[in-house]
Amino acid sequence: SDAQKGGFKHFMLKEILEEPDVIVEALRGRIKNGEIEIPELDFDKNYFKNINQVYFVACGTAYHAGLVGKYLVEKYLNIPAQAEVASEFRYRNPVIDERTLVFVVSQSGETADTLAALRLAKEKKAKTIGIVNVVGSSVAREVDKVVYIHAGPEIAVASTKAYVAQVEVITLSILHLAKIIDKLNEANEKLFVEEFQKLEGFAREILENKEEIASFVSTTKNIEETFFIGRNLDYALSLEGALKLKEIAYVHAEGYPAGELKHGPLALITPNSLVIAIDTFTPLSDKTISNIKEVKARGGKVLAIAKKDNTRIKEVADSVFYIPNVLDDLTPIITVIPLQLFAYYMADARGLDIDKPRNLAKSVTVE
Ligand code: G6P
Repeated sequence: SDAQKGGFKHFMLKEILEEPDVIVEALRGRIKNGEIEIPELDFDKNYFKNINQVYFVACGTAYHAGLVGKYLVEKYLNIPAQAEVASEFRYRNPVIDERTLVFVVSQSGETADTLAALRLAKEKKAKTIGIVNVVGSSVAREVDKVVYIHAGPEIAVASTKAYVAQVEVITLSILHLAKIIDKLNEANEKLFVEEFQKLEGFAREILENKEEIASFVSTTKNIEETFFIGRNLDYALSLEGALKLKEIAYVHAEGYPAGELKHGPLALITPNSLVIAIDTFTPLSDKTISNIKEVKARGGKVLAIAKKDNTRIKEVADSVFYIPNVLDDLTPIITVIPLQLFAYYMADARGLDIDKPRNLAKSVTVE
């Protein structure tokens, strides 16, 4: 109802604006005396010694959160990791056993494919961790350990605040596990603790500048096709940015690894193309900037999302939306916000039914 929308035009906008609070809630009780701790994940070190692979299984936006997890598991646990959509995982013969740890990510905890993937993982004796929003949902009840994201009810079909909380909780969980196996040193932990605490303010700062996104959208609202590009965590984000735009604005969008552009999509770039280049992962920024130049050379228009301290980006992109100087490994938690706003304003400019996009459902409980 209108009352529940709290005066906002759409639930989606209301939920995006709740993100700074969601960031705080997901962190609550998980940093104590300057230390990261997820009490729900009380594995012992000996158990962990045997873990030889990690999977993230999920659908839609939750899958994109899992993809962030894959990069961070490789980096901080040094264990082979994969993220896979549940509808594929469940119908392969995933080679997993009791030495496999499977993260099952789901806002609703009721998605049919995700639940089936979880049951398959358990049948094969894998250890399972649920990253779930809805308390007491099927996934939450069936996993070995559940870590709730505490994002509050999400009404809009397209997931926004749940992604923010999923990525945050997955990141905290991985760092917690890294501590168990002595792979996170004190200095690094201290750095993370400080940087986690900045995220709420960073998110508020981005939201204060949301009109910049709205005005950019007003110049491109008739666009028919877009590419979202990025590398590493920015690649995971590019998939989520593209998904949001497809879901609610009905604009064809493709998320692509920036380095893979030249192996195909570059053939489609013309002066009518819009490329959203995500360049927040500092170690690979120069590489992404080279890819932006390739797009510009074909006449494509580029909107970049970059950190404030990125001094080179304004020379290559047509427009830049700046985000605060977030720690590289935490960038998805806040960089997704301008991507969500971009899709939101694009859908609004087109007069679409934002909270209930055609053909889609909030919770897909049948296959
Ligand atoms: C549907 C929703 C998406 C969501 C996906 C997974 O497709 O429209 O927003 O990301 O299901 O849902 P879950 O509840 O498992 O996270």
